[in-house]
Amino acid sequence: MESKVLLKDFDGILNSDTDFDAFFGKTILVTGATGLIGSLFIKSVLYCSRARNLNIKIVSVIRNIEKAKEIFSDYIADDFKFYICDLANDSLDIEENVDYIVHTAAVTTSKDMVSYPVDNIKISVNGTMNVLELAKNKNVKGMVYLSSMEVYGQMNIEDHLIKETELGYIDLSSVRSCYPEGKRMCECLCNSYAKQYDVNVVSARLAQTFGPGISKDENRVFAQFAKSFMDNTDIVLHTKGLSEGNYVYTTDAIRAILVLLVKGEKGQAYNVGNEDNHMTISQMAHLVAEDIADNKIKVIYDIPNDTASMGYAADTKMHLSSEKINSLGWKAQVKLKDMYLRLIEFMRDFIV
Ligand SMILES: NC(=O)c1ccc[n+]([C@@H]2O[C@H](COP(=O)([O-])OP(=O)(O)OC[C@H]3O[C@@H](n4cnc5c(N)ncnc54)[C@H](O)[C@@H]3O)[C@@H](O)[C@H]2O)c1
Repeated sequence: MESKVLLKDFDGILNSDTDFDAFFGKTILVTGATGLIGSLFIKSVLYCSRARNLNIKIVSVIRNIEKAKEIFSDYIADDFKFYICDLANDSLDIEENVDYIVHTAAVTTSKDMVSYPVDNIKISVNGTMNVLELAKNKNVKGMVYLSSMEVYGQMNIEDHLIKETELGYIDLSSVRSCYPEGKRMCECLCNSYAKQYDVNVVSARLAQTFGPGISKDENRVFAQFAKSFMDNTDIVLHTKGLSEGNYVYTTDAIRAILVLLVKGEKGQAYNVGNEDNHMTISQMAHLVAEDIADNKIKVIYDIPNDTASMGYAADTKMHLSSEKINSLGWKAQVKLKDMYLRLIEFMRDFIV
């Protein structure tokens, strides 16, 4: 049975000002369907479609059918189909017409980025090319590529919010750069398909995105902090935590993707963050330890000599502007503390 907190989230999307009519009777293809954002996007859309009789069909691209059946056990029906495809290596052949595409598939684990950088680049570049070819051949109405705020690289900007036209430095000698540089190349590919083949594609530069719906083995920093709270153990930071994070709640990101599919301007990139959810990693650790755990746990610094092998992104100082996507009618709603409270509510029921 689906978690109560997720059902509340899906109801929030259903009752939002999302233009569902634009998707009436349409087919949406989603890659990375078993991942955090892909799975929540699919569940949200199926939930809303079934509640409103929108007759939306979801075609999902996965690699592992057993995993997919487990994640979507409550959702499997005629309006939802799986295609098995390793996007880095296999071509993507889809029978049905496709109206919209949401391309989320990527390597997102820092450790894997530094251990398998070539695989990371392959899924980024080959995978995105594969999906863009499909978008071109199916003449889709809209496609959103999930990029990342990491495309900005290192910045040291404190006097204004970062707009989509600015870019910082990426150190190409660092193996971890396969991720942000891959994202840059994929945005460039999207733009190129928009120009050369008139593919209606936009890039969504997501801030760190989290909320209920994470998998049991999720190990990104937000999950580690929430697990420390659940286990009543201190939060251990392996850096000074000075990098400034920009955060957005999962359902806010899903509403943003739905807006961009319909209203995004071809070939453009949009920041998707919550301007109010901005702090350093260390401040966020203290928020969890002090505000959420009521000082029952502490933040401890244990900084190894060789942090490079751990795959952390280089420190950056920047605060994402939401102005461009706000102008399409989207506004972030959920504050960082509530993101944690909802995530913890989910973990209480499903993970521990
Ligand atoms: N969650 C975040 O904080 C965040 C922030 C910025 C950007 N993004 C971007 O959003 C997208 C989704 O992120 P997420 O958090 O859901 O990630 P995730 O790791 O939970 O999901 C990624 C999905 O991609 C799939 N995948 C990986 N390699 C593949 C391949 N070769 N063929 C087919 N599928 C493959 C995985 O199986 C997984 O289902 C990613 O592109 C990520 O870079 C996420």
